[in-house]
Amino acid sequence: MKSYDFDGSTPQGATRKVTSVYVYEAPVRLWHWVTVLCIIVLSLTGYFIGKPLPTMPGEATFQFLMGYIRFAHFSAGYILAIGLIGRLYWALVGNHHAREIILVPVWDKAWWREFFFEIRWYLFIERYPKKYIGHNPVGQIAMASFIWATVFMCFTGFALYGEGTGAGSWAHTAFGWVLAAFGNSMDVHSWHRLGMWAILLFVMIHVYAAIREDIMSKQSMVSTMISGFRMFKD
Ligand code: HEM
Ligand code: HEM
Repeated sequence: MKSYDFDGSTPQGATRKVTSVYVYEAPVRLWHWVTVLCIIVLSLTGYFIGKPLPTMPGEATFQFLMGYIRFAHFSAGYILAIGLIGRLYWALVGNHHAREIILVPVWDKAWWREFFFEIRWYLFIERYPKKYIGHNPVGQIAMASFIWATVFMCFTGFALYGEGTGAGSWAHTAFGWVLAAFGNSMDVHSWHRLGMWAILLFVMIHVYAAIREDIMSKQSMVSTMISGFRMFKD
C-alpha cells in the first residue's frame, strides 16, 4: 500500500500529496457564475415567451405577467451580452487559461491526440485520467462552442429586441440586418429557440462531465471554478 492510499483508518505518518495551481482568475469565475444565472433566467422566461400559458385567472386589465417575463428576459439578455464582452476582453489581458476557450489549437496534431484520448476516457475506455491545469481538449471544444452559441443568441436576441424598440433604436440599427438575413422574424424566433435547446444540451453534458471529473480524475473541478485553484490529488 502506498503511503497515501486511504483505507478508512489514518495510518501513522501517512500524508496525501496535494498540489495546487491557480488557474481561473476572478473575472473568469465571476463571468462563469453570472452566465449560469443568466442562462437559467433566459431559458425559463424564453420558454414562456415562446409558449405562453394558455389561460390566466382574473381580469386582463390587471395582468402584466408576460410583461414581467419579457422584462426579466431582456435584462438577463443585456447582462449576458455585457458579460460576454467582458469575458472576451479578459481573454486578451488575462492569463493564458483565459484564452483556452477562445483560441482552440485545432491545427496542432498533438492536441488532437489528446482530444481522442479524452473522448476514450469519457467513454470509460481509458482507465487512467490525464491531468490538465486548464481545460482538457474536449472541454475546450465544448466551451468554445458555448461561446459561439452565446454570440448567436445575442445577435438573434437583439435583432428581435430591436424589432420591439423600433427603427432608430440602437438594437434595430445594430442588429436589424439579422432579421433581413434570416428572411423574416418568425425564422429568427425559431432559430433563437433552437439555440436555447443546444445550450441546454451543452449544460447537461457539462455539469455531468464536471462532476464526473471531480470524482474520477484525481483533480479538483467544481471547487476550481469557485476558488480558482486546481488541486491535484496524487
Ligand atoms: C442563451 C441565451 C438566451 C436564451 C436561452 C433565450 C431564449 C429565448 C426563447 C426560448 C425565446 C422564445 C422564442 C420563440 O419561440 O418565439 C426568446 C425570445 C426572445 N429573446 Fe431570448 N434567449 C437568450 C438570449 C437573448 C438575448 C441576449 C436577448 C437580447 C435582449 C434576447 C431577446 C429575446 C427577444 C426580444 C425575444 C422575443 C420576445 C417576444 O417576442 O416577446 N434573448 N428567447
Ligand atoms: C448554465 C450553466 C452553465 C454554463 C453555461 C457553463 C459554462 C461554462 C463555461 C463556458 C466554462 C469555461 C470557463 C472559462 O474557461 O472561461 C465552464 C467551466 C466550468 N464549469 Fe460551467 N457552466 C454551467 C454550469 C456549471 C455548473 C452547475 C457547474 C458545477 C457543477 C460548472 C462547473 C464548471 C467547471 C468545474 C468548469 C471548469 C472546467 C475545467 O476546468 O475544465 N458549470 N462552464
